[in-house]
Amino acid sequence: MAARTPARLVVLVSGSGTNLQALLDAIDSDPSYGATIVAVGADREGVAGLERAERAGLPTFTVRVRDHADRAAWDLALTEATRRYEPDLVVSAGFMKIVGKEFLAVYGGRFVNTHPALLPSFPGAHGVRDALAYGAKVTGCTVHFVDDGVDTGPVIAQSAVEIRPDDTEDALHERIKQVERRLLVEVVGRLSRDGYRIEGRKVLIPA
Ligand code: GRF
Repeated sequence: MAARTPARLVVLVSGSGTNLQALLDAIDSDPSYGATIVAVGADREGVAGLERAERAGLPTFTVRVRDHADRAAWDLALTEATRRYEPDLVVSAGFMKIVGKEFLAVYGGRFVNTHPALLPSFPGAHGVRDALAYGAKVTGCTVHFVDDGVDTGPVIAQSAVEIRPDDTEDALHERIKQVERRLLVEVVGRLSRDGYRIEGRKVLIPA
């Protein structure tokens, strides 16, 4: 992707939206951040992430699986809802759905996800719980491009977080999220300002 400043971002959320908030704060506090959020989408109503977007005065949209005949129809509707805002990048910030073929046909190579584990370890919806249950000593977070697998796309950046002997899933997830928010803000800013190339599994951002 060539840099277009400011890059237009659509952010997708399913929950508390603290990663979204970190992006909003970065954009607010740094005029040279290089990106702007043009809309926030969700797969469910009433989540705090949507409220954060509304407080920031941003347009929002909700596309629920249950309102569609099947997953493919939902995927098409999500693609159309996103496309209306003409994003350069789409950011999945705690969006707990796997998108389908249609979405990836339009946004493949431009769809960034953040995952709370060091991929390829512990993919899927319970990355924090699984790392803890495995007895790993170090975990962390991964910002990556989304492909048609579950958390399998090219890695953009990772940060490590130590697992403490007495950790609970919530305590560990909270420490990961502190690191994750900083990493996501840094990565989205760099992709937006500097542009990037994806060569196989390698993501190359000009220095
Ligand atoms: C993040 O840890 C993300 O990696 C995971 O869910 C969490 C979302 O947090 N999939 P928030 O909604 O941004 O606060």
